[in-house]
Amino acid sequence: MTSHLLTLLLSLIAVVLPLRYGCTEIIGGHVVSPHSWPYMAAIQRKNLTVCGGALVEGQWVLTAAHCQLNEPEVRVVLGAHQASVAEKEQQIFKVMRYFPHPQFDKSSKENDIMLLKLKGIAKQNKYVQTLSLPDTYEDTKPGTKCKVAGWGVTSSGKPSKYLQETTLKIVDRKSCKSKYEKYTKITSNMLCALGKKYSKRDACKGDSGGPLICADRYSGIVSFGRGCGRSGMPGVYTRLTEKYIVWIKKLISLHRDP
Ligand code: ARG
Repeated sequence: MTSHLLTLLLSLIAVVLPLRYGCTEIIGGHVVSPHSWPYMAAIQRKNLTVCGGALVEGQWVLTAAHCQLNEPEVRVVLGAHQASVAEKEQQIFKVMRYFPHPQFDKSSKENDIMLLKLKGIAKQNKYVQTLSLPDTYEDTKPGTKCKVAGWGVTSSGKPSKYLQETTLKIVDRKSCKSKYEKYTKITSNMLCALGKKYSKRDACKGDSGGPLICADRYSGIVSFGRGCGRSGMPGVYTRLTEKYIVWIKKLISLHRDP
């Protein structure tokens, strides 16, 4: 009798738990409709996606500075849905040169932004497109709805085969600061974003460098977080401030091939 009850209880748990936590990728997201993020880049080492990025010009990918790998086998995959497998839509490039922000600070994560110059120019089509840099510089207001995508770690603890996305909301910097007080300083060059209450939505390991898009505007870059998807703990993003946009445009025009 008790064993029947136990079986019933266990099967109930087996049904309910996946409902609550099952469709939880990136953390708490879902697989994207294939090629709906045509500017999304996968930065890979030996077929493993270590970071994301966004194509901002034919030969340029914007990512996080802590994604600098400096290894010859690094490749950038554009037009991917399943990034670690060959797909006909993909365009694959080696990195010609890394341009981390000159003031990037590894420990504080301040200025976590980097441009990659690709060895070759991406052909733009249905599957590969550039993401426009923001043309206004105001801060993204708390409560603004955002989305983020990546091939990073899901709730299973493993990276995702397919590109995943989730939706988040900007958290006011003050409350973010207090949550990160013990760990690091949250500056005005950063944005904090959190999933809906109890949803555990977040970026995670391997999603770094990917774009945060808020109200249809390229607003930030996945940078860091204390754990992933911890309730009430926002993820931190490099904010695309005027200073960074000016730096990006200058650098590209200076190093653009004639
Ligand atoms: N630093 C991580 C990476 O290298 C990204 C962390 C984002 N974490 C978070 N909880 N939002 O991929």
